[in-house]
Amino acid sequence: MDAYALDCHRRAGRIAAHCREWARENVRPGVTIRHVLETVEATIREMGAEPGFPAQSSRNEIAAHYCSPPDDETVYREGDCVKVDFGVHVDGYVADTAATVDLSEDGRWAKLVQASADALAAAIATVGDGVPVGEVGGAIERTILAAGFNPVRNLTGHGLGRWKVHTPPQIPNQHEPGGQRLQEGMVFAIEPFACTGRGYIREAGKAEVFMQVRPPRKAKGLDRGVLKDIESWRGLPVARRYFLNHDPAVVDDTIAKLARQGSLMRYPPLVEQEGVMVAQTEHTMYLGPDGVEILTA
Ligand code: CO
Repeated sequence: MDAYALDCHRRAGRIAAHCREWARENVRPGVTIRHVLETVEATIREMGAEPGFPAQSSRNEIAAHYCSPPDDETVYREGDCVKVDFGVHVDGYVADTAATVDLSEDGRWAKLVQASADALAAAIATVGDGVPVGEVGGAIERTILAAGFNPVRNLTGHGLGRWKVHTPPQIPNQHEPGGQRLQEGMVFAIEPFACTGRGYIREAGKAEVFMQVRPPRKAKGLDRGVLKDIESWRGLPVARRYFLNHDPAVVDDTIAKLARQGSLMRYPPLVEQEGVMVAQTEHTMYLGPDGVEILTA
């Protein structure tokens, strides 16, 4: 990790943390999800950075990847368990952070939210050079089980790189034997999800988030303007909301064609069973010579 890269990651981390704290105060019943997401993205830009991935806010049984469509009027409601998950990049170096807000009047989800936060703290306490990722996952699993909940077992933390939001190592939310070891110089995100269900999510609903994974093959009907915009993100995820200056039908058509030829990956919402509540807490950190530094504190 050179000094420039670390400086960019640190700046991205500070901006991500600022936006997360703003969202914690401003996610309220009656406010639209889209208002929160658009305000966060505007704030990231005002602070001199860019979204590392589209701002997202998933409620209740939706664990992750709910991103407003361009005309979304969905509002937060009393009783919701609301995740906010933001990425910021400075010159391609990404920071990723998430928090959960309990919108119930009686604090119904406070213990669940606390379990994911405690699991993150327990995980961070295990972090060190040479530590197997499964050991970090073990600390997450033990903490969440002890609080009476389940970790979401098929979601993981991840490394972060330049123009890359998911690099090795995967950091599980449960104990796993073997696996990679953390190494000095790595930047990675740990993101425990605690839930009231069995702890398995599946993809459900329409994707609003897309990522280019390989250059497109020439094909009929691919809109060059849309393609150019997608490519300007250099492999970072984009949202359908980012293409308001294009004809929506053309955007949808180009996205569908690119996804079919394997150039674009689609990321639909990740959902537990109906009625299950999910809470998430996430920090990005740098494992340096003097130990772990939380970049999104
Ligand atoms: Co993440």
